[in-house]
Amino acid sequence: MIVTIDGVAASGKSSVSSGVAQALGVPYVSSGLLYRAVTLLGLNAGADLADPSALLPLLSAVRLEPLASGNRVWNADHDLTADLHSTRVDGGVSTVAALPEIREWVDAQLRALPAPLVAEGRDMGTNVFPHAPHKFYLTASPRVRAERRARERPEDIPAIEAALTERDRQDTTQSAPAPDARIIDTGPLTLQGVIDTILNDLR
Ligand code: ADP
Ligand code: CDP
Repeated sequence: MIVTIDGVAASGKSSVSSGVAQALGVPYVSSGLLYRAVTLLGLNAGADLADPSALLPLLSAVRLEPLASGNRVWNADHDLTADLHSTRVDGGVSTVAALPEIREWVDAQLRALPAPLVAEGRDMGTNVFPHAPHKFYLTASPRVRAERRARERPEDIPAIEAALTERDRQDTTQSAPAPDARIIDTGPLTLQGVIDTILNDLR
């Protein structure tokens, strides 16, 4: 069984996926972490983030570890995870995610993982796992999302909201909900409320 949880930036995908996966006793995978890892390695190498031929050679030792408590990304024996959620990576990741060659690389990493699993991102239900039997799409207003993210970032709420809205715009192509996804506005719900909504739907 595969459950897909897609949605806009900071809509709660990782936290909700982790909770759903732990309740089901299966791993979850965060596709965004792979796009973030490509971005971090590209920035650290001084590469042009719009040039796939500069990025692909950096990825041979990159590996996603889909732990139920929180995914980790490794580059050989170096754990990149703690550096993937910076404002610097946020600013470059949509450029990297627009590259078909990088999307193919990410998709191949994800499709190589054994089911059952929960997969979260933008295009899990449309592109990567189109035959998944259970699909969800999380939304919330830009202000609600910015208020949540402000607890994890040094910037103020209006700056975060502007950056989220701009990233949503850049990610529009790959972010359409699957036609068979259940759309959940997480704005009026608690985190546990979103997890329970999904678990009830799965039962
Ligand atoms: P995403 O993976 O979509 O970027 P995260 O899982 O990082 O989103 O969630 C952003 C933050 O919002 C987390 O700290 C999460 O705990 C918090 N949060 C607060 N309320 C909710 C809610 N109702 N639904 C989902 N996440 C919520
Ligand atoms: O939740 P948030 O948008 O902050 O981060 P994320 O899910 O880690 O995604 C980071 C970026 O990766 C997004 O802004 C997209 O550019 C890209 N992404 C994508 O294109 N497709 C996916 N399936 C997942 C992420």
